[in-house]
Amino acid sequence: MSKFWSPFVKDLVPYVPGEQPKLAKLVKLNTNENPYGPSPKAIAAMQAELSDNLRLYPDPNSDRLKQAVADYYGVSTAQVFVGNGSDEVLAHAFHGLFQHGKPLLFPDVTYSFYPVYCGLYGIPFEAIALDEQFQIRVEDYARPNGGIIFPNPNAPTGCALGLAAIEQLLQANPDTVVLVDEAYIDFGGETAISLANQYPNLLVSQTLSKSRSLAGLRVGIAVGHPDLIEALERIKNSFNSYPLDRMAIAGAAAAFEDRAYFEQTCQQVIASRESVVAGLTALGFEVLPSAANFVFARHPGKDAAGLAAGLREQGVIVRHFKQARIAQFLRITIGTPEQNQALLDALKPLV
Ligand SMILES: Cc1ncc(COP(=O)(O)O)c(C=O)c1O
Repeated sequence: MSKFWSPFVKDLVPYVPGEQPKLAKLVKLNTNENPYGPSPKAIAAMQAELSDNLRLYPDPNSDRLKQAVADYYGVSTAQVFVGNGSDEVLAHAFHGLFQHGKPLLFPDVTYSFYPVYCGLYGIPFEAIALDEQFQIRVEDYARPNGGIIFPNPNAPTGCALGLAAIEQLLQANPDTVVLVDEAYIDFGGETAISLANQYPNLLVSQTLSKSRSLAGLRVGIAVGHPDLIEALERIKNSFNSYPLDRMAIAGAAAAFEDRAYFEQTCQQVIASRESVVAGLTALGFEVLPSAANFVFARHPGKDAAGLAAGLREQGVIVRHFKQARIAQFLRITIGTPEQNQALLDALKPLV
């Protein structure tokens, strides 16, 4: 704390990202990155941007990327927003769409950046308890709100919500925005973007960090009614005109255009997930049904913090949250078949 700080800074509780260890040779299954590299076409597109042109600012509107996203989803470019990671997209949405005085609703077990943005922008919130099976129960969201947000599939549980339940929320809340954070949608969920033309209160965010394996590039998108997108554009253009650099625009557009690589690598992750679930179950773990590139698992006889520490000693890093209700779970990212085997081998002596 310093006398130079604006007063509100002292009360901020910042987000704590998963560790990015400096050690090589670790089996890193803690931040839900993709074990396969980005599309070779995306890498080629970025390499082509590494030129004398870098002296020029990028396109402030990222038109090439918006067009690639619009083509992919069959929407108009006026329905597409892009930002520096979906975290930035989410921040602008909190800032521009959720400050209505009434509480924002989100699950009690969810992406831990949501309460952080509420703190940053002074948004009241209510955390709605997941049911006993760690599922979102939409009936529990029938209360006055200034907006609703949840990841689908939810994080860190991995559990997906069907489109019928999402439509129920949209219909019950015509006067507030329902933001579906689809960071992990491509690993088994059904995107709500198909509902975008029907519901002016729907905003869907996605990231290129997971299914398109570009976490290091920092690109996220949102799709929704042009009125919602305009709010995000206003915030963005009052904050940073150029959130995406030339390499990010080119690489992200090429990644959306390379459907074959995207579909193949997603299928590989999904297939690996099923074998990790089988391996964990055989070791006595209870694994929540996952539609994501990670699983959330607990062992009835072993303490999760102890398991995480034991794995770490063997060079395998997973995520453990010291948080009510989920302190006995481990969140384990799906890696390559070799990494997954290393995880199971390291767990064997611990359980
Ligand atoms: C649910 C959820 N939303 C959003 C993000 C942010 O992704 P990024 O900022 O890399 O696009 C994450 C990252 O882990 C996430 O788990």
